[in-house]
Amino acid sequence: MLSCLTLAATLEGREVTTIEGLAKGDQLHPMQAAFIKHDGFQCGYCTSGQICSAVGMLAEARRGQVSHVTENVGRTTTRLTDDEIRERMSGNICRCGAYPGIVAAIQEVHSGRQAAQTWGFATEAQFAMASTASSPSKEDGHETV
Ligand code: FES
Repeated sequence: MLSCLTLAATLEGREVTTIEGLAKGDQLHPMQAAFIKHDGFQCGYCTSGQICSAVGMLAEARRGQVSHVTENVGRTTTRLTDDEIRERMSGNICRCGAYPGIVAAIQEVHSGRQAAQTWGFATEAQFAMASTASSPSKEDGHETV
């Protein structure tokens, strides 16, 4: 369901899982952890919806539901290609363009295969080097910024 288009009163008596309901205490849901690992978000506005949709979409796929890009709808397959993931997630818009990381995160959870993290936090030395390189310098009494 689309939370922004669904009146809560229409769900009386139904179970609804929100982003807050995915984690188990301090332990993130595997999809939440994969989004962090694969840099699947930037501003974060869409992230809760992306993650909830990804969890729901994988559950639908496990039940054998097909999509518009399923090549053979007569054959049940629960193995999703990146195109299948993109199609099944197409209702979720990310203005930042974090789609490659989103697909990678979902594919990792879906396949169960660990993929390498492609980013890391900068070290103190890297921060120091970056701040030195971007600080103003003075040449011949003129300041360059
Ligand atoms: S992370 Fe920015 S809109 Fe999705």
